[in-house]
Formats: sequence, C-alpha cells, structure tokens
Amino acid sequence: MAEAPKKLWGGRFSGAVDPLMDAFNASINFDKRMYGADCIGSIAYAKALAKNNIISETERDQLVSGLESVMKEWEEGKFVIVAGDEDIHTANERRLGELVGSVAGKLHTGRSRNDQVATDMRLWLRDEAQTILAHLKELISVVVSRAEKELDVIMPGYTHLQRAQPIRWSHFLLSHAWLWQADAQRLEQLIDRFNVLPLGSGALAGHVFNIDRHFLAKELGFRDIINNSLYAVSDRDFVAEFLFWASLTMVHISRIAEDLIIYSTGEFAFVKLADAYSTGSSLMPQKKNPDSLELLRGKSGRVFGSMSGFMMSYKGIPSTYNKDLQEDKEPMFDAADTLSGSLQITAGVLSTMNIFPEKMKASLSADMLATDLAEYLVRKGVPFRETHHISGAAVKMAEDRNGSLSDLTVEDLKTLHPSFEADVSKVWSFETSIENRNTPGGTAKSSVLAQIELLKTWLSKTN
Ligand code: ARG
Repeated sequence: MAEAPKKLWGGRFSGAVDPLMDAFNASINFDKRMYGADCIGSIAYAKALAKNNIISETERDQLVSGLESVMKEWEEGKFVIVAGDEDIHTANERRLGELVGSVAGKLHTGRSRNDQVATDMRLWLRDEAQTILAHLKELISVVVSRAEKELDVIMPGYTHLQRAQPIRWSHFLLSHAWLWQADAQRLEQLIDRFNVLPLGSGALAGHVFNIDRHFLAKELGFRDIINNSLYAVSDRDFVAEFLFWASLTMVHISRIAEDLIIYSTGEFAFVKLADAYSTGSSLMPQKKNPDSLELLRGKSGRVFGSMSGFMMSYKGIPSTYNKDLQEDKEPMFDAADTLSGSLQITAGVLSTMNIFPEKMKASLSADMLATDLAEYLVRKGVPFRETHHISGAAVKMAEDRNGSLSDLTVEDLKTLHPSFEADVSKVWSFETSIENRNTPGGTAKSSVLAQIELLKTWLSKTN
C-alpha cells in the first residue's frame, strides 16, 4: 500500500500542540501589564472564599501573602515568565503554587479566567483612566493659564479658513479647553459606568458556591455587581466606549494640532514651536518642522484604527466568552498609552510655544469689520437683512477702488444708505468689534474672563 503523502505543514509538529499555536494563543506578552489588577482581584477572591468557608482562614492568609509576594516580584522586575505561562492569570497562579504549595490550587475554586480577565481589565482601565484624566486636566490648566496671560492678544478668527472676524487669541485657546473639559467629563462618566463587578460569574453560568459578590465588589471598589453572569463574562462595551472616547479626544488634539501647524507656517507666522517640540530636516538646513503636532495629528488615526479594529472583532462573537475577546487588550493598551503620551506632548507644546501678537494683528483687515458696519446700521434702526446687503455693497465699492473698506468716506457710505453719519468712523476698530461681543460665550474681555473663571472653578473642584 502506498504511503499517505506527508501533510505539507506536518513537519512543524513536534508534540501535541503546534508551537506556533502556543505563541499565537498566548497573551502573556501584552497582558502581563495587568499583573497588579490580577493580584488584587485574586486577593479579594481569596478573602471572599474564606468568608463563605470555602477555604479556611489559614489558607486565606497563605494565599494572600503568596499573592502579595507575586505582586512584589512583578514590581521589582523579578518575576520570571516560563514556558506554559499562557497569560497573566496562569502565570500568577503558577508562581503562587511555587511559593505557597498546593493550597494555591484552591484559589481558582468557582472562578474562571473568563470572569477573572473581565475583572482585571476593568480594574486596570479604572486606574489608567484616572492617570489619563490627570493629564487631561493638566492640559486644560496649561491652556487656561496661557489664555489668562495673553488675554489682550487679538487675531483673525476664521471660518472656511478665510479671515472672518477679529477675536481674542485667548478665546481661540479656550475653545479647545472646552472640548477637553467635555472629554474629561465624558471619561468620568465612562469610568462610573464600567465600574461594576463581573467576578463571581464563573465561566458563564454563575458561581457554584454562592460567593458574596457584594463583598467582592466592595473589596475591589466597584459600585455594584453585574447582574447577569453571561453578560458579565462577555461584555466589552467598556473597551469599545473607551476606544471611542480616546478616538474623539484624539480628534480634538488633532484639530488644534492642525490649527497650530497652519499658524506656524512662514505665511502665517502667528506661533513658533519651542525647539523641544520641533525637529530639523536632514537636507534643508533652514527647516524647523512641527513634528510634535504632525505626530499628534497622525496618532489620531492610529487610535481610531484601534477602535474600528476592535469593533470588527467584537461584532460577530456568539454568546459569552470566545477567544476573539483576547483581541480587546492590545487596542485598549495602545489607545491608553497613546492618549497618555499625546496629552502630555500637547501640554508641552502649548506651554512652551511662542506667539507673535504683531503678526496676528497685522493679519487683521478692515473687511473683517463688514459685519460691524452692518451692525452699525442695525443700531440706527435698519433691519439686519438690509444692512447685510448695504455693507456688502460697501465692500464691493472698496474692492472696485482697490482700497480698504475703512477708507470709504461718510459721503461714499451715504450713497448706500442715508443713516450713515460721522460716527461710522468708530466702526473701524478691531478692539471695539471684539468688545461688542460681550454676551456670555463671546470674545469680549469680560466674556473670556468669565470662561477662565468657570474653567478654573471646575478644575479646582475636580482636582
Ligand atoms: N487570556 C485570555 C483573554 O485574554 C483569558 C481568558 C481565557 N479564557 C478561556 N476560556 N480561554 O481573554
């Protein structure tokens, strides 16, 4: 009988499991950073087991001190990962066994890696989100103090990237601070939403020894338990929400980065980045490139990619735990790292950047006061729709003469409407235009100061 042809991939097998599959399956290389959450979760679990007499108090104490030693080894960089340590959960349990002996085998009673990993991730993200929140608040306070210091600087405000109306530079800065404040509030709400306990759900069907889940929740600082075991082991909405949050926050960072890239060009020259946040060209000696800002803009794509990638992995998973869920960690870690770095770099750029108020002011032109000219007539009782038209005609008159809007005389303007009088000359002041916008939320000094106060109060309350 002819020998069966060897499988093309057969040579790779040396034992029962393809070593490539081992590596493919393992998550230890990335989930080891949850070692702290894993140890803390296990310590609480050991206490809950003893509370229900599933293990004795002596056994609990052995487990707790063993887990504390495992944690210490990680903290001191002494933990040695060995072959077979598939993930952080198996690695820690293996090491616990080496340290405390067979009692380690009691720790996992009624627990599954399914409820364990879901708990670890929530604990890890809760901590990490607090760090990110602190960076975000630091960034907001950098912007607020800059806005306060540079309150008198005026610049063109843009729509469609066309000069529109004069504004305060501080008003521009604060527009970004408000976006970040909303991001901070969203993150706080998100933390509160996901701060609920999956542990005590078993693999999927629930805990067999009636463990006290409310005790576990209290021990681990969760505000409540998750009320359905199937849901508890498979819910990763908190990862999806965090990734969306991170993407949106990066969009905000990317947008101010784009503004500042434009403002730092030779054509604008409104701002100049500190050397610490720029780099040169290897070929052109004169170049100073805003690499920090370009990276921030670029990294927004990376974080969005993490979100969309995870959503694709998440969407088709049948009920409860499936290994696809292991794909939740790298995007979460990467987004968290990218956010931490990006927020700190943005704060660094914004606190060290130079501005050129004369250049900003020189970029203002009288046509930017065309709306003010219309408003002048409104004050004289002319309906706004008409005044808009009249002011447009004045702009055209000035353009036809190749002159500036402010060079039109009262006589010129009177040909357009009889209500123009000598006091129209007062319209040609950028400062007045700005100060006229003193409704809350406007660009007048009083409105900008009020914004600064509001943000300062919020920062002091939440810090
Ligand atoms: N490393 C796994 C993960 O990250 C832990 C859960 C494993 N559960 C299982 N049933 N294989 O998702």
